[in-house]
Amino acid sequence: MSKDSKNTNSEENSPKDIASKIKNLEERRANTKFGGGKERQESQKSKGKKLARERLSLLFDNGEFTEIDPYVKHFSNDFGLDKSRIDGDSVVVGYGTVNGQQVFAFSQDFTVLGGSLSKVASNKICKVFDLAIKTGCPIVGINDSGGARIQEGVDSLSGYGEIFKRNTMASGVIPQITVVVGPSAGGAVYSPALTDFIFMVEGVGQMYITGPEVVKAVTGEEVSHEDLGGATTHASKSGVAHFASESEEDCFESVRKLIDTLPANNVDMKASDSSVETVNQEDLNKLIPENPNQSYDVFEVIETIIDTNSFIEVQSEYAKNIVVGFSKFNGRTVGIVANQPDHMAGVLDINASSKAARFVRFCDAFNIPIVTLVDVPGFMPGTIQEYGGIIRHGAKLLYAFVEATVPKITVILRKAYGGAYIVMGSKELRADINVAWPSAELAVMGPEGAVNIIGRKEIAAAENKDEKKAELLQNYRDKFANPFVAAEKGFLDDVIKPSETRDLILKSLNMLENKTDQNIPKKHGNIPL
Ligand code: HXC
Repeated sequence: MSKDSKNTNSEENSPKDIASKIKNLEERRANTKFGGGKERQESQKSKGKKLARERLSLLFDNGEFTEIDPYVKHFSNDFGLDKSRIDGDSVVVGYGTVNGQQVFAFSQDFTVLGGSLSKVASNKICKVFDLAIKTGCPIVGINDSGGARIQEGVDSLSGYGEIFKRNTMASGVIPQITVVVGPSAGGAVYSPALTDFIFMVEGVGQMYITGPEVVKAVTGEEVSHEDLGGATTHASKSGVAHFASESEEDCFESVRKLIDTLPANNVDMKASDSSVETVNQEDLNKLIPENPNQSYDVFEVIETIIDTNSFIEVQSEYAKNIVVGFSKFNGRTVGIVANQPDHMAGVLDINASSKAARFVRFCDAFNIPIVTLVDVPGFMPGTIQEYGGIIRHGAKLLYAFVEATVPKITVILRKAYGGAYIVMGSKELRADINVAWPSAELAVMGPEGAVNIIGRKEIAAAENKDEKKAELLQNYRDKFANPFVAAEKGFLDDVIKPSETRDLILKSLNMLENKTDQNIPKKHGNIPL
């Protein structure tokens, strides 16, 4: 090293100089916290929306997170963009913990150019995404954005492409959660759509391919932003959203609860805990009504057999004829799939099939055992369902159950008719333990339908047709309206009292803990999409 360079170095590193550099850093760092400035922050609040950093504080333990890339600025000059270079650009990214679990997150900042996605905003998102994949941690994307940054053109589009690529490559590796708390329009909706769970806040989050103005111009239909793509629409009509909340506070609380229930990645095994609360199981013995056509609420079964208050229902407002969600059994996370007799008699239709199939595949990807509660009269008949492709959609559920190699336990509560019996986690679809309550009926179809077909000639020839039909119905019920025919043939492993269900599931989960099962090696299957 020359004498001169030594001098220069020692000057640069003089205590006074370092102190002023640290002061400079502190000032610069403080400036990164203001996003698009006070005025735009006020405007954001006046719309009832939280700021990007406030949202991250709601997500993480003690409101704390470590930010990455706070100084990144965009590099565009077109359309006057050179005058709006802001430290951090339109997204805040970083990591923190949720109930002690490390989680990565990005939060779009609407105060900076409407949260629009620039190439550098995408780079920031991709940076935390890559860290989440490498470290095997969940990622949460908080969306509040006008979409692709119009002034940047193809640079911005490339930014979206990079995010979509990561969404897809990380699918089934780490849980991906989206929170929609602002606009999410056009192609920008496809990153959320590629993630595992979408949370939306009423009156704040909106998702649509084209806004109401374009809808009116193209179709003549007048619709508000909220009706077209608000939380209620997507949680109850389209099924795009999995959770809808009334406030951002409630929403982030729900996100935290979900993260706490999910494994961190596809090889994580969360510890179990046997010091859990449970409720009296005996009431289950009185739950099934005498009349097979009378409904009951399957939530009563779910809430009784799981660890108390552990159920997180997914898509609670969509396709209510099937209930799916995460529960805990002695602290271990288990996916529940249950027909709901209280809604459309628990029939399987297009929406219920797709909803359950996606849930089963999530559980399988993340090693979450599946408990299936069956009370299903069959698939929904009619032109609406046939024209809508119930054959294709119902096949998704079949495929998902067969493909799943996680522990699978099925309990038949009452009706298990026809193809729907097979679909709902039957032995033939590689379920490990199948049991039934004494009220179970396993048959190709219900007694009425069956007797009308196989007893048609006999009834027509009978002197007293009603008497004959009643006799045939009784005959059919005696034969099939019980679980013992199936149990005698080994299609069921046991017949249990309803009050023994939790115990049976716990024993089965323990027995299956080290289950290994494999599918035939292949590039990938061809699920009927
Ligand atoms: C650049 C944008 C922007 C965008 C909004 N802004 N969207 N800047 N690119 N995409 C700017 C506005 O010009 C404005 O700046 C500021 O952000 C706030 O926007 P406002 O319109 O004042 O806010 P608001 O009234 O709340 O309306 C929000 C909005 C609206 C509904 C999102 O801004 C809007 O319609 N934006 C365009 C949405 C869109 O069509 N995006 C492209 C989608 S297609 P100033 O300085 O004036 O205050 C797409 C392709 C992705 O994203 C493809 C992936 C494959």
